[in-house]
Amino acid sequence: MDTIHITGGQPLVGEVRISGSKNGALPLLAASLLIEGETVIENVPDIQDIHTMIETLRSLGAKCTYSAPGTLHVDATHISSFAPPYHLVRRMRGSFYVAGPLLSRFREAEVPLPGGCAIGPRPVDFHISGFKQLGAEVQERHGVMHARASRLRGTDIFLDGRLRSVGATINIMLAAVLAEGTTVIENASREPEVVSCENFLRSCGADITGVGTSRLVIKGVPRLHPSSVRAIPDRMETGTFLVAGLVTRGDITVTDIRADHMDIVVRELVRAGAHIDRTEDTLRVRMRMRPNPIEISTGPYPGFPTDLQPNMAVVAAVATGTSVIEETIFDSRFTYADELTRMGADIQVKEHVAIVRGVERLSGAPVVAMDLRAGSALALAGLAAEGRTSISGAEVLDRGYETFTAKLSSLGAIVTREHHGTEAGVATC
Ligand code: EPZ
Repeated sequence: MDTIHITGGQPLVGEVRISGSKNGALPLLAASLLIEGETVIENVPDIQDIHTMIETLRSLGAKCTYSAPGTLHVDATHISSFAPPYHLVRRMRGSFYVAGPLLSRFREAEVPLPGGCAIGPRPVDFHISGFKQLGAEVQERHGVMHARASRLRGTDIFLDGRLRSVGATINIMLAAVLAEGTTVIENASREPEVVSCENFLRSCGADITGVGTSRLVIKGVPRLHPSSVRAIPDRMETGTFLVAGLVTRGDITVTDIRADHMDIVVRELVRAGAHIDRTEDTLRVRMRMRPNPIEISTGPYPGFPTDLQPNMAVVAAVATGTSVIEETIFDSRFTYADELTRMGADIQVKEHVAIVRGVERLSGAPVVAMDLRAGSALALAGLAAEGRTSISGAEVLDRGYETFTAKLSSLGAIVTREHHGTEAGVATC
């Protein structure tokens, strides 16, 4: 378990480079299993979830090597197993993305079912339903999905129109690109991380039309050829540092980003009173006062990203009035609320809605990070609070934020990290 100590109350000022996207790189690593040859992936963030996915690929027989920091070579020519180990899939839900490629390459996949995690049950029934519709026989035994298919045949697949599952879109697409015939995925996710994977597959020779839309048309091809790709910048890290600038009333420029992926986030921060300057690959946030109250409801892209909902709760916590935050994607994504309350926030959570009455100042306190995005929200609260905040369970931040405390320190934050013994080993999302 690690604890991060933050002494808050001063504005953060400066420039910070945003790393490659966790949720953008993970599908690319999984997709590389489809290719008999070497895939080169640039801008891969050095974070725990990526390490877990590399371990998973290696467990299947793929060769994974770095030629430079952030540049990963994956050679899946000689993958020799269709059954990744439980302890890796349990540790990181994204490992389940290997199911589609293994089914494609081997016509067989034995993948442990990912467990739930702090933000709610994390079923994969949409993924399994898609595999079945493509012609696979699927059984779930002893916590493992056993999928077999003499051949995969294209078909029309309708995903849930409200949820537009990111993972299901990716996994079904990875199973369909080498299938016989045409697969249409209706209500596909339009998240930039999914679009980046669609574009990568096309660069490898996949026949996919409707890229970036919620209707994907995938014509199966006999094989894919090696290609290289650069992971998109991390939207969530971008948002976290923009909120840091806002809640500390500072002046932060985030660089190496995709500003076009941040439209709705920038809109909400401007509504909260921030001044934001924009270029194609930078955003600068300046704030001199307490933010205005906010009203947000999370939703599939281009809606407000659920992964930034906890960060926005910190804006609401110090706003000049009452804010309303609705979470429409996950069942329990307010795990941070009780911890923020310990810091003086006034948050009432009722089912999927949080009513937040802003206070003048939060006060530092010892708190616990229950999951990755709750952890970054507590760090933001500590930066905005008067006095010292100690966040235990802080190792969860390493899953999705590269050198988080170093980046905060470079902006003037007073932050230290203390290591105590082994990790709690909680399941992650
Ligand atoms: C991806 O998770 C992200 N993870 C999540 O980020 C993100 O919050 C989520 O998409 C939504 O944008 C990665 O990309 C690795 P979903 P995923 O399938 O694919 C339900 C983070 O902090 N559902 O879009 O698992 C599901 O329970 C993480 O970086 C089913 O019911 O999300 C949820 O309520 C957290 N059955 C909703 O759909 C299924 O088979 C959306 O889930 C699949 C999903």
